[in-house]
Amino acid sequence: MRALNVILGLVLLCTHAAAFTDYLLKKCHQAGFCQRNRDYAKNIQLSHNSYYHIDELSVVVDNTTNTLHADIVKTVPREDIGDVVVRLPFTLAFQQDMLSVRFTIDEKPIEKFNNELLTPYRYNETANWSFANHSGVLDNAPLQWSTQEQQQESNALAWLSNIVFNADEEKVMELTTASSDLRVRLFLETCQINVYDGKELVLAINDRSLLNFEHHRTLEDNFQNMLPEESSYNMFADDFEYSSSDHIPFGPQSVALDFTFAGFNNLFGIPEHADSLRLRETLDEEPYRLFNVDVFQYNLNSRMPMYGAIPLLMSASKDRSVGVFWNNPADTWVDIHYEGSASQSHFMSETGVIDVVVFLGDKPADITDQFTHLTGRPTLPLMSAIGYHQCRWNYNDELDVLTVQENMDREDIPFDFIWLDLEYTDDRKYFTWRPDSFATPGKMLQKLAKYGRQLTVLIDPHLKFTYEASNKVKEHSAEIKNFMGKTYIGRCWPEDSIWIDTMGKIGRTVWDSLFKEFITEKLPSFVDNLQIWNDMNEPSIFNGPETTAPKDLIHDGGFEERAIHNVYGLTVHEATYDSMKQIYSKFDKRPFILSRAYFAGSQRTVAVWTGDNIANWDYLKMSIPMVLSSNIVGLPFNGADVAGFDGNPSPELIARWYQTGIWYPFFRGHAHIDSIRREPYLLEEPIKSNVRDSIRLRYALLPTLYSAFHQSSVDGSPIMKPMFFEYPEYSEFYDIDDQFYVGDYGIVVKPITSTETFSTEIVLAPGIYYDLQSLKSTTVDKLDTVTVDAPLDKIPAFIEGGHLLIKKEVYRRSSKLMINDPYTIVVAPTLSTGSASGKLYVDDGVTFEYESGNYLDVSFTFTNNSVLENTIIHEPSDSKTLGNMYIHKIVLATDGNNVDVGKNAKITVGSDVREVTVEFDEETSSAVIRDAQIRIDEPWRVEF
Ligand code: GLC
Repeated sequence: MRALNVILGLVLLCTHAAAFTDYLLKKCHQAGFCQRNRDYAKNIQLSHNSYYHIDELSVVVDNTTNTLHADIVKTVPREDIGDVVVRLPFTLAFQQDMLSVRFTIDEKPIEKFNNELLTPYRYNETANWSFANHSGVLDNAPLQWSTQEQQQESNALAWLSNIVFNADEEKVMELTTASSDLRVRLFLETCQINVYDGKELVLAINDRSLLNFEHHRTLEDNFQNMLPEESSYNMFADDFEYSSSDHIPFGPQSVALDFTFAGFNNLFGIPEHADSLRLRETLDEEPYRLFNVDVFQYNLNSRMPMYGAIPLLMSASKDRSVGVFWNNPADTWVDIHYEGSASQSHFMSETGVIDVVVFLGDKPADITDQFTHLTGRPTLPLMSAIGYHQCRWNYNDELDVLTVQENMDREDIPFDFIWLDLEYTDDRKYFTWRPDSFATPGKMLQKLAKYGRQLTVLIDPHLKFTYEASNKVKEHSAEIKNFMGKTYIGRCWPEDSIWIDTMGKIGRTVWDSLFKEFITEKLPSFVDNLQIWNDMNEPSIFNGPETTAPKDLIHDGGFEERAIHNVYGLTVHEATYDSMKQIYSKFDKRPFILSRAYFAGSQRTVAVWTGDNIANWDYLKMSIPMVLSSNIVGLPFNGADVAGFDGNPSPELIARWYQTGIWYPFFRGHAHIDSIRREPYLLEEPIKSNVRDSIRLRYALLPTLYSAFHQSSVDGSPIMKPMFFEYPEYSEFYDIDDQFYVGDYGIVVKPITSTETFSTEIVLAPGIYYDLQSLKSTTVDKLDTVTVDAPLDKIPAFIEGGHLLIKKEVYRRSSKLMINDPYTIVVAPTLSTGSASGKLYVDDGVTFEYESGNYLDVSFTFTNNSVLENTIIHEPSDSKTLGNMYIHKIVLATDGNNVDVGKNAKITVGSDVREVTVEFDEETSSAVIRDAQIRIDEPWRVEF
């Protein structure tokens, strides 16, 4: 039996291991709705017709919800039978605590609909998943007509007096709020919506008349419901080879809309794609597609869909930024076009409603901030989760796991997490352990816990067709159903499988009970270091169309897979997180969950990674824009498999990949089952030492990185940050995606991503930059390209003058063992004023106590090239749980010329004043205090 399983496993593996075949995925012209909307776009721009208008008599403002309601009327002209008129409910509101406007366009439920399995409503519950408040209801600001104030009644006709005619004789309504400069103009006759910041037009919506709402019709009456500009391609059938069995029970349902970003010549966001950070022109090419799919060995420089989807598009200029959140989880394509000083986009989704939130801001970071205010702040992970993760498909047994631990320790290479992939299970049945190789998981976990280490195990949402767990799911009818309402059976790792339906409450409850049994009943009760990896949750289905679920599958509530597809993965990982949080509540411990699929809102609970890459230089290079793109749309906890999942990287590539990987917010070594073992301790010298140094640098910077994660959990700010986020004023930075900043700490990095490359050019804004390792300084007078030497043991990275970093410099086996180590401050002053500033956030790194105030937030400033001081922003309630509070070492980087430091420095703490020795380190041109003995949680002053 075992032998047969192995053979089956291998067969499966081979099928999965073939290079990614992109003919499995639709191109736009093969997807009915994409092709139809592109045709429509072309035709409507020629005909200049407009079939949509806002019915002025329907406009009502609801003063309790501060929402404008109206009907958008779609008129299909029919001389023979009379016009077909469809009323589409429209809402618009400004939000109270954001510079944002949200509007929705829905369709009334289908009246004569004889289908007991499906709901006649379009899916309009996305906000329940994507918004942080798990509801579509936002705190809206009172609306004002900017024309005059007189009307207060919610009486439809009363609002008519707010209609004005503009210079072009168009009927316009103009709305604003008291609290901001945001203004919206509704063009009633054309359904155009303009968004202004004060007087300036920022975004024009539907100005190209691409609004297309494929209202309900049947095959029989389709002809009378079609606009002259519409094509009927694949409205009721799908002729793509792999999805031709799609029943398409509702016929065409797509929604589409265009957005013109006025005065912006760049667009970013809408991950996940293996492409440049700045989105490319798609005219006459494939649009970017958002459709969660399993793309083993995905193609590079491609707009094909990947594992996750975050439909936030953003644009920035030197003093203004704008974001458009298309809150729709259906299969979506986005066309991008740059036209003079404007950028245009065209969103097309297969079904659902139009639910759009537009954000305005001064800086690009304002968009990420508001977006994560709406969809949730990124999770503050366990401190250990930002250490190094050692993974491989697969560690074979308990001895293997413990031997990896032993060898890493023997070679003095720190790590915090070790991972078990698929094969730890009994016959690929999740929630079980393979009895021969993992007979005593509790003991293994205990041995890992000794140094605070965690074990992550894989639990995917597909369950082998019959065994305890799947039987339980079926008993509760908690699995996804096929188009006939019967259990859907597809193929995945365990061959025939069913999928948990976490879209519904029953599914989430059953999922939760499976975790509870697995962890609290089957393992010793003290285990708190088991963490979870939800993979294949796009969902990946080996025999499904386009590697995923048939679109006519049915979820709880009678919604089709078609309507919810991109949010399914989030429902799985969120259910896992909720369950694990409850399980670990007795230890008050933060769960760690890794998910492959994601949607807007995933950042609240999980880390993600960039999926099945290949161990070659091109994938290393591409990992940077991919991780950056995810960081700017509020999902910072992301990283690529180091040093490439599939294949065997050269030693040089391994060294360079670790030098890059230490900057990914999620830093994990992972490898395919067919690849040669490559744990860092197995590497030959000098690569082993290079890799060790890189990982140790990551660990030394953990206090700074953790502070960056904390900042992100407060305002969504990127941890790996594009150059233009730091300096929107330099147009040169908008196209740079091979170098980046780290948090707000002035660390700027340009990893080496090509073979035999021993120097590189980095573009820097004016200022002074100190080499991160040697502290040697470089001055840049105007924005310029600087050449940096990069032998194999060197990462081109600087600290920009004006910042300071907090480190812990002693090597320990894991982050937990660093808790009692003192801090080092590295001060990197500006050249002009000799000043620097920085922050440190410290909590226990494990529990949720920070939520009730047990954390330290402290800022440091250095002024006049001489005085370093700290300010306590927040004091912890119990500083004993926060580890060592002392700073021993202070390093003041200098430019080597104007060194004006004495032999002693004066330290003042309260009334206590003492002198300490300052050494000048010639090699690094820095002044060093080795034994400062000052606490981070007490105010002090150091005078050099
Ligand atoms: C998928 C994952 C990969 C994992 C493998 C086996 O391909 O992306 O990381 O190792 O499945 O579980």
